[in-house]
Amino acid sequence: MTPILTATDLSLVYPNGNGGLQALDRVTFSAQRNEFLCVIGASGSGKTTLLRLLGGLLNPTEGEVQFEGERMIGPRRRIGFVFQAANLMPWRSALENVKLPLELQGTNSGANSRRAAELLKLVGLVDFENTLPRDLSGGMAQRVAIARALVHEPDLLLLDEPFGSLDALTRERMIFELLRIWQMRKVTILMVTHSIWEAVLMADRVLVLSQRPGSIRLDLEMPLSRPRSLDMMHTPEFGKLVDQVRSAIE
Ligand SMILES: Nc1ncnc2c1ncn2[C@@H]1O[C@H](COP(=O)(O)OP(=O)(O)OP(=O)(O)O)[C@@H](O)[C@H]1O
Ligand SMILES: [Mg+2]
Repeated sequence: MTPILTATDLSLVYPNGNGGLQALDRVTFSAQRNEFLCVIGASGSGKTTLLRLLGGLLNPTEGEVQFEGERMIGPRRRIGFVFQAANLMPWRSALENVKLPLELQGTNSGANSRRAAELLKLVGLVDFENTLPRDLSGGMAQRVAIARALVHEPDLLLLDEPFGSLDALTRERMIFELLRIWQMRKVTILMVTHSIWEAVLMADRVLVLSQRPGSIRLDLEMPLSRPRSLDMMHTPEFGKLVDQVRSAIE
């Protein structure tokens, strides 16, 4: 099967005063349709840069990204983005935030509202359609951001440390919430995380980036059965995978 996403020899140099700063060095990998990939690496290793390249928000200095067999040249509607901060519009309710991308496209308002309401239901926020972001918890705001990213029915969802700012319990809930959504929607996911256990618990495959300039240090399958559960974390198999990922980071 042809992969949904292919990165070939991606390098990125940010311009600066003295010759530029190289953030990524010949990153090569591909993602199959419906796969769940996690990207992990030290701070500054180029994870956010990689997501921006894969989403067409930034052009590579060298190499190329292919999405559904075509060279990426600019943002695509078939790709959803969830940034580290929820970035909701403070004066818009949860429902109005989810609707925003459809509105910008100029489609029918009644249908947009129904679609946004469906997605809020999917992320477990039925009773919060009319709530403003300031009255949502961090985890709820992040779920609105996930619903907003799904509103276009993307084939690919790019998430940049979506649970980074959440407390441990909310984070655990969100992990299983996202896995549930992924299984229902059949979307391809590429998620950046700082947490090794989170990557092993969620992903089909984990990519480890080296220190800057980031290149692929490890590309490892997680041969754990689905659905995943917290209990799996106590198995020797899980421990072994965590060790493999950790030693690639260090
Ligand atoms: N817009 C930019 N202009 C110039 N340099 C940048 C820019 N964005 C990132 N960088 C540099 O590129 C390198 C990689 O940054 P990036 O944000 O991709 O790392 P990261 O792996 O996402 O880090 P973190 O885990 O801290 O979020 C860093 O050295 C950073 O200083
Ligand atoms: Mg980052």
